[in-house]
Amino acid sequence: MSTSGRPTSRSSSSTTPRACSEFSDTLRAELDYGREATSEEFFRAIFKSAHGFNIPDVIEQYTRSRVLTEERVQGRRASEVADLPAPRRAAISRRIVRFVVVPALVHGVFYGDPHPGNLLIKDDGSLSVIDFGKVGRLTPDQRRHVIDIFLAIARSDGRHLTTPCCKSPHRRIPSTAP
Ligand SMILES: Nc1ncnc2c1ncn2[C@@H]1O[C@H](COP(=O)(O)OP(=O)(O)O)[C@@H](O)[C@H]1O
Ligand SMILES: [Mg+2]
Repeated sequence: MSTSGRPTSRSSSSTTPRACSEFSDTLRAELDYGREATSEEFFRAIFKSAHGFNIPDVIEQYTRSRVLTEERVQGRRASEVADLPAPRRAAISRRIVRFVVVPALVHGVFYGDPHPGNLLIKDDGSLSVIDFGKVGRLTPDQRRHVIDIFLAIARSDGRHLTTPCCKSPHRRIPSTAP
């Protein structure tokens, strides 16, 4: 970046091919349904006996790199459950957070696409997650930094909040299946 704030030719020429190659790798990974099936089975195993979670079962016999076949799950999009009672909505929120945080911090693998269309909620509050095309990994150092960030937020400690952010180098997280 130049002092005027405009990108110099050097920075733009090195950034563009890297962004293109990152986009290409991500797209190819998302189009490999064998990889998506492996990720889905990994998350299903973690939450298999957890109350209130129902991650669809992959039907391996009919799954290949170009096709993914899985159990059909029921539920409304997470953005369409405002009519449920407040305590139930609170339980659903906790489930969603647990689904994202536990695999990330305990196993170093995180679900990268938690938008409302991928989170299906039944009226009893149970959560089904679909679409495991975007899954990332955290190195042990990154995991420690994320934990430090959560602890600092919980303690309203601004100084310790910025420390792990500054220590954590901007690194590309490989979107490989677990
Ligand atoms: N296991 C499933 N059970 C029920 N509906 C599903 C299931 N998997 C996918 N769908 C439906 O298909 C839509 C697209 O599937 P998804 O895996 O999210 O693909 P995309 O990558 O296009 O978002 C979902 O929004 C949902 O309506
Ligand atoms: Mg989706």
